[in-house]
Amino acid sequence: MHPSFEPPERRFFGRRKGKAFSSRQQALMDTILPRISVKIPENAATDDVTPNLAHFHTGVTPLKQADIFGPALAKNIKQVWLEIGFGKGEHLAWQAQNNPDVGLIGCEPYLNGVVGLLAHIEANEIENIRIYGDDARHVIWALPDASVDRIFLIHPDPWPKKRHARRRFVNPPNLDDLARILKDGGEFRVGTDHPIYREWTAIQMAQRSDFAWLAEGPDDWRRRPDDWPETRYEIKAMEGKATYFRFKRLERA
Ligand SMILES: C[S@@+](CC[C@H](N)C(=O)[O-])C[C@H]1O[C@@H](n2cnc3c(N)ncnc32)[C@H](O)[C@@H]1O
Repeated sequence: MHPSFEPPERRFFGRRKGKAFSSRQQALMDTILPRISVKIPENAATDDVTPNLAHFHTGVTPLKQADIFGPALAKNIKQVWLEIGFGKGEHLAWQAQNNPDVGLIGCEPYLNGVVGLLAHIEANEIENIRIYGDDARHVIWALPDASVDRIFLIHPDPWPKKRHARRRFVNPPNLDDLARILKDGGEFRVGTDHPIYREWTAIQMAQRSDFAWLAEGPDDWRRRPDDWPETRYEIKAMEGKATYFRFKRLERA
């Protein structure tokens, strides 16, 4: 499979919960979340890690569009987009509001982040977001081949130390899975403020024959596209030093 790459650890994100919820936040969790949660097949929600991760989805019951969005919305949406690790959800909420004919799936295990997105959803009456409050890989493993038009990975945890490199979300088995679920011509966006993650991503993606970098010039990675809003994390952490990578899923043979 990927002999030079040690498989990711069982969990490779940080804490699940921070500050206690206020009563308003608890109410959002109790009322809105159950209505818009993605329910994945039981055999996809596992934390077992095998060295054969790239084919882990084999045998998992595929998640259909109507299962995720409900039959009415599934009929009306033209594309499906996925955000991995949405933090407090400002990017995902912006995309949902600006693209009402797209169905968006957001995955985030940090529950204080999930509640942040629920507040955006309530305040702006957003209808086209579905949430999975755990490891995005469970959803990815359950999604059918060529079923997603766009994937966002915005400021993934950098895990800068070499010995933690296997915790980085951009890794060969995960990229195999993203290539599997993306449609031909679909887009994979990676934003990072971290020089090590930037270099790591550039090297990982350059090795792929199923993705091409959509750079339109030598400084493309420094320019934020108009349809790529800044997140709170980005504004705080980096004063305009982010990297904006866009990769195209090449046509299958
Ligand atoms: C540095 S934060 C960035 C959050 C947000 N994208 C932003 O730019 O504000 C990285 C986020 O990725 C989430 N994360 C890490 N591993 C994940 C995984 N396997 N599936 C889903 N989310 C994950 C973390 O919980 C964390 O909220």
